[in-house]
Amino acid sequence: MTTPEPTTVPAPPTPAAPDVPGPSDTSSAAPDHEIPRYDDMRYRDVFWAARDYEDRCDRMAIRALLPPTGERLVEVGAGYGRLADEYRGYREVVLLDASEAHVAAAREQFRDDPRIRVEQGDAYALPFEDGSFDAVVCVRVVHHLEHPGAVFAEFARVLRPGGVLVLEFANKRNLKAILKHALGRQDWSPFTTEPHEYLPLHFDRHPLEVRRLLHRAGLRVEAVRAVSLFRLPMLRDRVPAGWLAALEGPLQAPLGSVTPGPSVYVRARKAG
Ligand SMILES: C[S@@+](CC[C@H](N)C(=O)[O-])C[C@H]1O[C@@H](n2cnc3c(N)ncnc32)[C@H](O)[C@@H]1O
Repeated sequence: MTTPEPTTVPAPPTPAAPDVPGPSDTSSAAPDHEIPRYDDMRYRDVFWAARDYEDRCDRMAIRALLPPTGERLVEVGAGYGRLADEYRGYREVVLLDASEAHVAAAREQFRDDPRIRVEQGDAYALPFEDGSFDAVVCVRVVHHLEHPGAVFAEFARVLRPGGVLVLEFANKRNLKAILKHALGRQDWSPFTTEPHEYLPLHFDRHPLEVRRLLHRAGLRVEAVRAVSLFRLPMLRDRVPAGWLAALEGPLQAPLGSVTPGPSVYVRARKAG
């Protein structure tokens, strides 16, 4: 997915640490990394203004994967809080994002909702205690992460035993990439598990790589859904978003085993 946020800023320096800490890694230091700059609200006002279909698909996947009720939920990289109304069943909701502009917009939007707290912070160093959340949600952020394994370890740290992660990532092994590769119109293979960086700080990832990193962080994948299956400008311009989403609904779960679409959602659980 290309989003209107090309510039990056280095995160504050931290001591070097392994790229993918395992569950037994006690180091709390994050690897060096950059954070994309969402300095203005074009992501809300331009990008999402034209993506009703994708918004519906994201919500469908979240409703299918996220336990509907719980005590504490954090969305990491929540932006301006697009998806916050999906968390109505949680007693306390934290929206965390690195962007000052998006955090300010979310604070403004939810200032009268005592259930929702908005925090500025870095996914690599979550400002929360161990085991303090029932659920972590992370949507459309993994494609910006140079070291997703380190962030997954943070998710596992802040989840309580038995807690659930709902995670979206951009899928390298999608049908369009497979066809282009087969026709000789793309020089990289969608089948190899290393990430494909299609723009600076924008990575498509192979589903097996994501599964391996989650497993290494102590998070066991329980369910997978293939999402935004009809994300084609030709369809988007001609077919109403509601129709496309209705068509996609019954396909997301069964196609989770082959993930032909550009976006993949997983539910992963921390061992209880
Ligand atoms: C494409 S937007 C997605 C926003 C929201 N999840 C949604 O789906 O509407 C990516 C968001 O991730 C945030 N982000 C990227 N890297 C981050 C990091 N290391 N820590 C916290 N937020 C980060 C950006 O600031 C941006 O708001």
